[in-house]
Amino acid sequence: MKENNQLNGDCALPQKEGKRWARTTVTSALPYANGGVHIGHLAGVYVPADIYVRYLRLKGEDVMFVGGSDEHGVPVTQRARKEGITPQQVVDRYHKMIKDSFEEFGISFDVYSRTTSKTHHQFASDFFRKLYDDGKLIEKTTKQFYDEQTGTFKTDRDIVGECPHCHAEANGDQCEKCGRDLDPTELINPRSKESGAQLVLKDTTNWFLPLNEYEGWLKQWILEGHKEWRSNVYGQCKSWLDMELQPRAMTRDLDWGIPVPVEGAEGKVLYVWFDAPIGYISNTKELCESNPERWGTWQRWWQQDDTRLVHFIGKDNIVFHCIIFPVMMKAHGDYIMPDNVPANEFLNLEGDKISTSRNWAVWLHEYLVDFPGKQDVLRYALTASAPETKDNDFTWAEFQARNNNELVAIYGNFVNRALQLTQKYYEGVVPACGELTDYDRETIAEFKDVKAKVESLLDNFRFRDAQKEAMNLARIGNKYLADSEPWKVIKTDPERVKTIINISLQLTANLAIAFEPFLPFSSKKLYGMLNVEPLGWENLGSTELLKAGHQLAKPELLFEKIEDDAIKAQMDRLERIKKENEAANYKAEPVKKEVTFDDFEKLDIRVGTILSCEKVKKSNKLLKFEIADGLENRTILSGIAQYYNPEELVGKQVCFIANFPTRKMMGLESQGMILSAVNFDGSLSVITPQREVKPGSQVG
Ligand code: 2FM
Ligand code: ZN
Repeated sequence: MKENNQLNGDCALPQKEGKRWARTTVTSALPYANGGVHIGHLAGVYVPADIYVRYLRLKGEDVMFVGGSDEHGVPVTQRARKEGITPQQVVDRYHKMIKDSFEEFGISFDVYSRTTSKTHHQFASDFFRKLYDDGKLIEKTTKQFYDEQTGTFKTDRDIVGECPHCHAEANGDQCEKCGRDLDPTELINPRSKESGAQLVLKDTTNWFLPLNEYEGWLKQWILEGHKEWRSNVYGQCKSWLDMELQPRAMTRDLDWGIPVPVEGAEGKVLYVWFDAPIGYISNTKELCESNPERWGTWQRWWQQDDTRLVHFIGKDNIVFHCIIFPVMMKAHGDYIMPDNVPANEFLNLEGDKISTSRNWAVWLHEYLVDFPGKQDVLRYALTASAPETKDNDFTWAEFQARNNNELVAIYGNFVNRALQLTQKYYEGVVPACGELTDYDRETIAEFKDVKAKVESLLDNFRFRDAQKEAMNLARIGNKYLADSEPWKVIKTDPERVKTIINISLQLTANLAIAFEPFLPFSSKKLYGMLNVEPLGWENLGSTELLKAGHQLAKPELLFEKIEDDAIKAQMDRLERIKKENEAANYKAEPVKKEVTFDDFEKLDIRVGTILSCEKVKKSNKLLKFEIADGLENRTILSGIAQYYNPEELVGKQVCFIANFPTRKMMGLESQGMILSAVNFDGSLSVITPQREVKPGSQVG
């Protein structure tokens, strides 16, 4: 058994106890190919993974970044059913969409493949077969819900029934109304989502991974050996390991997935959480076989002691990556263990949980339509509020502020000033650095520090703080220019200005390096303006990046202000979605206590024609109506000002209660009440007879 993790101590640095890792395999969770990717995915997994990988690459380390789509599992089959297409069509569509989004946001995978690939099917099948042949799996017969109408077993998510706690309709695994986790056998009246048929319990045989047998090893490996893991990850592992682990089924009675390679297992497939993490390995294999000169064998990346394995995931995936997958690899026997699993918590959107089914998300493909070319702005904002230690909230207001007050006002502003001054004074040619003042030396010392700080933070997966440190460089630059005032000094001491501009330009080049892992598009643009090839990470902190006499390219703005209108459009969109969700979830109020016809007859409901309508002064709510009622006309006040312009109601007919006692509101008398329907969102709509009738007609 090869376990690099056990040989090494307790820090997250590539250099451990004098031992240098030869290479790093970085994986990021394979997203389900049953929908697009949104900001929650990006902030939680892909941006931090990408920052990390870019950083290692910049340092010249040998790193492979593995991604791909998770194309099996029940959610795919459910979407296929809903849309009346095949699961393969579903995953073909979303695999492409997801892959394109990642590319557009600069998530720099070395391989992005899919779990429906031939290579993967074969690899996962062989992996299972080895565990089976080695006697590492146990065969168990259990009772599962079965749909006699379709002749299929049902997984938890394919079952609906009445929640035993709140009696709402609930899924087999969870009740959305009261939020409780459920076992499908608890449901009252369990039915098949697919056919609606009542379900029966039927015996079925599956193969289980006896997690319980690995408990001692897991405790040793994680609880003793990886105290440096993020506290959310370590804590979740500990609470799993404090409970008794149970054998877990690695096969399912389903028809979408990888067939179980065992005789007599027809109609069964590998559990999606068995095959998906193996996808990391099979995708590695695909890459290595496509370019063996560059990558060598896949075994180097998964089975060699000197390889470091890091999984980037969201918190809902912790148990699979820290317990189940490691047990699978341990049972197999040939694999290294993850050295770290820097899982993030969740990102919310405007205070609410991101939800695909409620469309409460910012989708990447939509973002790029609304904010073309602004990939880095989103990367920056998401890293700045990354949910590293606790759930965090994305708000459009903060997004705008991060752009306008930080990217534009700090980073962009400094770069622009440095480049424009160079244009103005030296026609874009880097001036020579003269004698340094104490202040120059202090500034240089300050920015030399940044490299060590950013490195230490990135080595420990603290991306938010690392990005802050990079921004600090720009702050140093702004302060330096503001304090040195070259625009004034140029009049009295032009030689001195050369030094100020030289230092500012060196700082600018440093910014391009420091931000490269975080904001790759902007660094590329900045290198272009500096007219240099990308500078390596080892140069961070150097004051000799741009030689005197070097000609810069024409400067452009690095970032642009985001106006209020663009933010308002996003907020309006979310407001619309909220309304749509409320409408979709609307349930009519229960019917009130019974009344008699006599009770009803006591109310005198009539139709009137609106003669005039105006807003009541000093009231946001009230409108004042003059109503023709077939008698002497009357005045009625009604609290519908938020929902109507007074003019649009004049001439319309409405129903009103004619025999309410006169009431005084805002000093005015109201002789009755206009009837309105109360919509799901509380908005009011007046009741109008379907054909025009004589004013004063009774309603009954
Ligand atoms: O939670 C998810 O979206 C899963 N599809 C992640 C799988 S990660 C890995 F195991 F592939
Ligand atoms: Zn419930």
